Amino acid sequence: MERLADRRILVTGAASGIGRATALRLLAEGARVVATDITGDALAETLALAAEAGTADRLVTALMDVSDENAVNEGTAQAVATLGGLDALVNVAGMLRGAHTHECSLDLWNRVLAVNLTGTFLVTRAALPALLETGKSVVVNFSSTSAQFAHPMMAAYSASKGGILSFTHSIAQEYGKRGLRAVNVNPGSISSGITQNIFSLMPEETDWSLLSKLTACVGEGFGSPEDVAGVVAMLVSDDGAFITGTEIRIDGGTHQ
Ligand SMILES: NC(=O)c1ccc[n+]([C@@H]2O[C@H](COP(=O)([O-])OP(=O)(O)OC[C@H]3O[C@@H](n4cnc5c(N)ncnc54)[C@H](O)[C@@H]3O)[C@@H](O)[C@H]2O)c1
Repeated sequence: MERLADRRILVTGAASGIGRATALRLLAEGARVVATDITGDALAETLALAAEAGTADRLVTALMDVSDENAVNEGTAQAVATLGGLDALVNVAGMLRGAHTHECSLDLWNRVLAVNLTGTFLVTRAALPALLETGKSVVVNFSSTSAQFAHPMMAAYSASKGGILSFTHSIAQEYGKRGLRAVNVNPGSISSGITQNIFSLMPEETDWSLLSKLTACVGEGFGSPEDVAGVVAMLVSDDGAFITGTEIRIDGGTHQ
């Protein structure tokens, strides 16, 4: 059964980690996907993986910086035109930069907020008219376990993810009667570009003992991007029809 047959879905941050796995999973379940990111070479790799899986004929890749208002408006309009409408939006694009809060520059703070929180807003705003036109649509936003549980040295990141959490609740209520569902996924400890590069993304002299709680209690400590992609596929499908205005934590039990 292809539970996403002919669903038209825009995925951001699809050149790496969870976004790439999500695009490939949605394609595997029959969807038509526009996959966007800021890195062309890595997006080409996503396309190559889809070709290997025999799903590349339903995939279009495009560059789109989610923090750039004009790029988002143009890129989203192009995606809607390519797909002939839009049934779901999956806002995966995100970045992590750690800092001791007393040393966090305003530039770093603003950049993290611009990509994670404002980027999620910009793409959602641009996509909403097309989503609402279908009468049955879904937005899946990437918050994080850091939104509700302490992640030291990640104040900007955590604040951006907390903002996404609230933003998603707001639109779920605002547009629910028009057939739109909005759900957060809150990953934690997933192997990806962010977690593989964690040592270079965190400040020097990080006291890693403060992060000791961030180890999953199942498996070998880290989940896979595919563990998250499967949940997103469920959420954008009719299996998620009664799920909205909430979040799903996918962290191997790290934050119980
Ligand atoms: N890996 C985890 O454990 C974890 C935990 C909590 C939340 N998340 C969230 O999951 C999402 C996916 O991250 P990941 O872990 O797969 O990391 P990743 O680094 O592998 O993927 C992030 C992707 O976002 C893209 N991106 C960054 N800035 C962008 C911009 N301005 N415009 C468009 N694309 C941009 C990157 O190029 C990259 O392809 C992020 O929102 C992240 O915050 C991940």
